[in-house]
Amino acid sequence: MKIIYVVGARPNFMKVAPIMREASKHKELEQILVHTGQHYDKNMSKCFFEELGICEPDINLEVGSGHHGEQTGKIMQKFEEFMLKEGGNLVVVVGDVNSTIACGLVAAKLHIPLAHVEAGLRSFDRRMPEEINRLLTDTISDYLFTPAEEANKNLKNEGIPEEKIFLVGDIMIDTLLWEMERTPHINKPPLPELDNNNYAALTLHRPSNVDDPEIFKGILNALDEIANKIPIIFPAHPRTINRMKEFQFYPKSKNIKIIEPLSYREFLRLYKNSKFVLTDSGSIQQETTFLNIPCLTIRENTERPFTITKGTNVLTGTDPKRITEEAFKILEGETKQSEGLPLWDGKTAKRIVNVFREL
Ligand code: UD1
Repeated sequence: MKIIYVVGARPNFMKVAPIMREASKHKELEQILVHTGQHYDKNMSKCFFEELGICEPDINLEVGSGHHGEQTGKIMQKFEEFMLKEGGNLVVVVGDVNSTIACGLVAAKLHIPLAHVEAGLRSFDRRMPEEINRLLTDTISDYLFTPAEEANKNLKNEGIPEEKIFLVGDIMIDTLLWEMERTPHINKPPLPELDNNNYAALTLHRPSNVDDPEIFKGILNALDEIANKIPIIFPAHPRTINRMKEFQFYPKSKNIKIIEPLSYREFLRLYKNSKFVLTDSGSIQQETTFLNIPCLTIRENTERPFTITKGTNVLTGTDPKRITEEAFKILEGETKQSEGLPLWDGKTAKRIVNVFREL
């Protein structure tokens, strides 16, 4: 059986890696890796292949950045050309980025079975581009691999037949466990000047947070206030740096240190040894819950509500007052404890590959 895997943006690489590693144990599974080129900077793409132990992509479609229609359209055009030449028995897409829906649509229209890993997550906020990508990809997928029971419920509510849905657990945890064993100095922060438990780690790149000057300014003000009490380390996404330059907003506090985006292992060391995390990313909400690290999510909603009900995650929204209040609570020792989640055991890739082998 010939399986075509698609990656495009930073959060995709760690989801594909454990599945490809597991499938490589079975000779009957031929594997082809396609990189759409949605992310192209070394720190947003190449370093992950080196660290996660995945082979270099068989092809890079080199689509690069662009508005949603332009980027999605270019990926579709190039992936269709590739698939018409290459063929395949199964296309595997992961997560919720533009590459996920673009390649999913191509597979569905060519009548090639489509598998979606991390299916069923919903923020119920259609202003988020990722929510549109999630909804549409799940509608056209033949095999939907879900990380948690809530995701199964969402899919059933949308009328997806039960026989297409496979509750397999969270694939990010496979990568986290695998990399924790292989990361040198895992119990130390990646920058020599940092002390364990004595800084906060920050990621911020959602269009809804950084593209609106008022909201972005409010968040930066809150961060300045938090930084009066604890240093904040901020590996900044290129989108956020571009917006800072465009709006001429920069954090005022010298206690906020902006650095280049980090590799998977360096970032793991950064959040694992931090006092708490401030983020608007998706997967980091799960990783911090798994490691029992307090996480403040600077968003109005989340597609991973189980990290709130069972984990360490707190939604702050974008109100600067609320963000600072929640951070101060953590500094005063008021933190949530994670209960852990079923099937977050590092065996998700094995469960997925078992399904592939039965096809
Ligand atoms: C994408 C995903 C988002 C994910 C994020 C992780 C979509 C709709 N969004 O957002 O869900 O959380 O990746 O990083 O797919 N840029 C560079 N170099 C790069 C990549 C991007 O400079 O290698 C800059 C460009 O200015 C580009 C902007 O970042 O225009 C946005 O990139 P894009 O791929 O459109 O979406 P992300 O914001 O990265």
